[in-house]
Amino acid sequence: MTDLIITGNHIVDCYNDYYGPGTIYITGEHIEKFDKTFISKFTGFNQNTKIINAGELIVSPGLIDIHTHLREPGREDEETITSGCEAAVAGGFTAICCMPNTNPTIDSQEVVRFIRSRSTHAAARVFVIGAITKGIKGEQLSEIGDMVDAGIVGISDDGNCVMNAEIMRNGMEYAGMFHIPVISHAEDKNLSKNGKVNEGYNSTVLGIKGIPYIAEDVMVARDIALSRFTGTSLHIAHISTRGAVELVRNAKREGLEITAEATPHHFTLTDSLLKTFNTNLIVNPPLRTKDDVEAVREGIRDGTIDCIASDHAPHSPEEKDVEFIAAPFGMIGLETSLGVAMTELVHGGIISIKDLLKKMTVKPAEILNLPYNGFRNGAPADITIIDPDYQWVVDADKFKSKSRNSPFIGHKLKGKALYTISRGRIVYYDAER
Ligand code: DOR
Repeated sequence: MTDLIITGNHIVDCYNDYYGPGTIYITGEHIEKFDKTFISKFTGFNQNTKIINAGELIVSPGLIDIHTHLREPGREDEETITSGCEAAVAGGFTAICCMPNTNPTIDSQEVVRFIRSRSTHAAARVFVIGAITKGIKGEQLSEIGDMVDAGIVGISDDGNCVMNAEIMRNGMEYAGMFHIPVISHAEDKNLSKNGKVNEGYNSTVLGIKGIPYIAEDVMVARDIALSRFTGTSLHIAHISTRGAVELVRNAKREGLEITAEATPHHFTLTDSLLKTFNTNLIVNPPLRTKDDVEAVREGIRDGTIDCIASDHAPHSPEEKDVEFIAAPFGMIGLETSLGVAMTELVHGGIISIKDLLKKMTVKPAEILNLPYNGFRNGAPADITIIDPDYQWVVDADKFKSKSRNSPFIGHKLKGKALYTISRGRIVYYDAER
């Protein structure tokens, strides 16, 4: 029996390059059938079949966030797997990839299995990124093969950069053997030591120790060199500098398997905002200059930057409500990523909505080899329905995340997920529109 039917005039299936009318029939957790027609009236279905007429809204395969920090295990007061997934679906994401800097770190089969089993019934699907090194300390490789057996889709020491090039090389060689990519948090910690914000005019005026752009550039250069040497795919996380964008552009021209992501905050906000002393602006990599933001936007436009990632990093009010320089790095983003990207990139005239949805569906799926192929018969029924013109204001009281540390609170955005369907179930509906 068909459980759910979604029909609309604007199916945007970037996996299959299909843009047009269509009807999706869903049974259980899967797409039973996809038809390239819009149907305004249905007959022959009983009342147990739910019908969504999406009309002029956009119907896309579910959005994927390639870079999420869940705080379980360890800091469940900030985010649990359940609350993080609720935040994800409220932002239109049906799948998220969780980073390993939990406590304990995701560096063994046990922790991978724990997260996978805890997320079985969560609103969104959770794919796990394992740590390159034990405890993300950069000293000893973690149990990469064991973690692959338990289902990890990539490795990263995100939050920390693997400073020792030999260890990074070994990590890449292991990852290559298991056909998974290495995700690099590119930051030379000798250059960034004790820094809190971008090094430059604003850090000087505020008297705060800076993190220079070169700390990112040298590590992106090193990791591209190691990827060339080992032949392993490399993904650059949260790219933020002009130099790093240029390095990735050149690596792609050379034909290397290098991909990159950018966050909404890095293509929107600059370090000139720091004078507000809003601790939600403290993030790593730091907010950079207007010139860097322009370079990131250009990288998004010309395809150098493959995907948009939230870098959702929840922190408690006790931790963020402190003196500016004492605040931890990170901001939440799952519930604002699509809205900020629609507002800045699509309505801002930088890329089309198709290109944005490519960067939020098929590209992250390709980078991590996730089991998605769009609206095909038998495919997972993970779907996002978007109103591209819906105007809304970011309201902290409405966040599903357990944390509130967003710099976008109070921002007016245009574009939002109205329905999120995960494993065939409607897991989010915006009743306010
Ligand atoms: O701002 C950040 N927050 N950058 C990171 O790399 C880690 C993250 C976190 O876990 O809070």
